[in-house]
Amino acid sequence: MYHYYINYRNASEPLNLPNLEVEIGFGKGDFLVKLAREYPDKNFLGFEIAEISIKNLLKKAKRENLKNLKCANIDAFWGFQLLLKDNSISHIYINYPDPFPKKRDIKRRITRQESLYIFAKKLKKGSFIELRTDHYPFMKYTIEQAKKLQCFDIRYSKINPDKPITRYEEKWSKMEKTLYKVTMEKKKEPISMKIRTIEKLKHPFPLNLENIEINPYRIENKKFKIKDNLNITFHKVWEKEGSFLIEAVLSEGGFVQKFSIIIKKKEDYYIFDVSPFSEVLKTKGIQESITFLAQKIIKS
Ligand SMILES: C[S@@+](CC[C@H](N)C(=O)[O-])C[C@H]1O[C@@H](n2cnc3c(N)ncnc32)[C@H](O)[C@@H]1O
Repeated sequence: MYHYYINYRNASEPLNLPNLEVEIGFGKGDFLVKLAREYPDKNFLGFEIAEISIKNLLKKAKRENLKNLKCANIDAFWGFQLLLKDNSISHIYINYPDPFPKKRDIKRRITRQESLYIFAKKLKKGSFIELRTDHYPFMKYTIEQAKKLQCFDIRYSKINPDKPITRYEEKWSKMEKTLYKVTMEKKKEPISMKIRTIEKLKHPFPLNLENIEINPYRIENKKFKIKDNLNITFHKVWEKEGSFLIEAVLSEGGFVQKFSIIIKKKEDYYIFDVSPFSEVLKTKGIQESITFLAQKIIKS
């Protein structure tokens, strides 16, 4: 059976698909579906954070039986890191991304330097990132960020699409907004920079602790900084026959995972683990958060 959906949590190896082109934030997905339909000899992958967009794309891809299309429900910054090989991508499309015009939100822009760095690493030499936007300050910002990496030949122009390629392009065209296209051709490797990363673990979790007494209610509805770039909020604590389930949200350098921690009571010890009903990417941060939880709730 062909799998359209990539669950990044289970993917042990980077994807190995020839002629792979990627769209970031495909929204309604029509552009990606059209590409997949028109170019059966190429592969296409879409990253989206909105679950509803993923569901819609899966429906369209199945309906048309497009065997060259896949998608993953993950922020593209992390999706590129977790799923793609260096120098393997033939083209990257970013159509009308959220421009985040407010000063305090600028760090969320998808074309900030650290994102462009990871996109450039994954792109083949001689290949392009193609961005369309209706927002002039966003375009200028993107070009500034891209220049810092010293790896692109950058061009930009106004565009006047007679046949809009996406919903947003259609919307902005009808409103007669000025639209821009930026193309960034990878000429060489980007200059090295430090970016946020996550450390995956092969065999993490169960923590067995003997001869302890615990009070998990201590941490209910509380937020903690475990260390720099590792923050956890514990929500509801559930109890049954001396065992506990604790809802948690972990942010690991901005990579957010929601899961439950289970504490199983045995004869004279407790087992701390991720609940089997929680799907997580097994990371060092999750391991550290389980150890942290144990330290916080052991009665001294
Ligand atoms: C303004 S819409 C544009 C949709 C589509 N490209 C178009 O032109 O009609 C931006 C889309 O990007 C998605 N998105 C925003 N940030 C993202 C990220 N970091 N990674 C992947 N998708 C993202 C949003 O969920 C939304 O669907």
